[in-house]
Amino acid sequence: MTSTSVRRHRATGLVVLLAALVATGVGYAAVTDSAQAAPPQASETQVQQGRQLFLEGCATCHGLAAQGTDSGPGLIGVGAASVDFQVTTGRMPLSAPAVQAPRKTPQYTPEQVTALAAYVASLGAGPAIPSDSDLSTTDANLAEGGELFRTNCAQCHNFAGKGGALSDGKYAPTLMNATPREMVEAMLTGPQNMPNFPNATLPLEKKQAIVKYITDNLQNAAAPGGLALGSYGPVTEGVFIWTAGIGALLLAAVWIGAKVR
Ligand code: HEC
Ligand code: HEC
Repeated sequence: MTSTSVRRHRATGLVVLLAALVATGVGYAAVTDSAQAAPPQASETQVQQGRQLFLEGCATCHGLAAQGTDSGPGLIGVGAASVDFQVTTGRMPLSAPAVQAPRKTPQYTPEQVTALAAYVASLGAGPAIPSDSDLSTTDANLAEGGELFRTNCAQCHNFAGKGGALSDGKYAPTLMNATPREMVEAMLTGPQNMPNFPNATLPLEKKQAIVKYITDNLQNAAAPGGLALGSYGPVTEGVFIWTAGIGALLLAAVWIGAKVR
């Protein structure tokens, strides 16, 4: 074998390797693309299963055909996102009449929630459950998210996301326990006293920016200014400085007085 033929053989090996890599890449892209392109379509069995669960656990308040009763609103057209939000946060099924449905341990498995959501969505069009790509915040603008949060959410949920009281015993809950999906769903559906922020007025990219701000800056917040005092804002901070500060001044006055005598 001459040295040129060895070189040629090496080159062929390289070409074959490159071709194999490209083929794998193209094949993988084709497979993942097709998986992403098709949104999860609710199957007929899911709708049937959801209807059964609904009749057992929800119809007493929401009506046999989700038309609503004196004990609960109609659900036609509220959309899958509303059901997913209400049931995954444990607000529904409501266990007892209350000023506001509290967040509690969810009572349905994720598969059952999907089925309930599919059933309600089959009754009338409404906001869909956000997909994984809808929830991606890799390209989201953190600074813009902070600005949007302070103008749209902080008046109720507090500037640190710790929640706050509203009128008539109602409250905006803390945002420390909410998942990105629940955040987007809350914005899309506006549960109870929360206004809704449809994509027409607050586009998805802006929602993603808000989600990024809540998850990165509020839920995982370090307190750069030292003691956070629960991040409840000027009132706790005022009380703290009032007691600690005035206390220190009093001590100083007593000490000076003792010295003078
Ligand atoms: C004890 C009565 C009761 C039961 C049981 C109940 N709900 Fe509700 N539901 C309510 C009331 C009252 C409201 C409105 C107040 C609120 O949102 O807290 C409501 C609100 C909702 C909403 C929000 C509607 C909207 O406008 O976006 C959804 C979705 C919902 N319920 C789904 C369900 C599902 C699904 C079940 C069964 C797993 C269920 N509920 C069981 C009483 C009930
Ligand atoms: C007018 C007051 C108000 C404003 C403004 C508001 N919310 Fe809410 N929010 C509420 C109330 C009230 C609830 C509880 C609803 C319920 O329990 O059914 C809530 C619930 C939530 C929840 C569910 C929390 C959990 O743990 O279950 C999230 C997430 C949320 N809001 C996010 C936001 C975001 C993001 C914004 C800004 C785009 C916003 N909210 C603006 C009042 C408000």
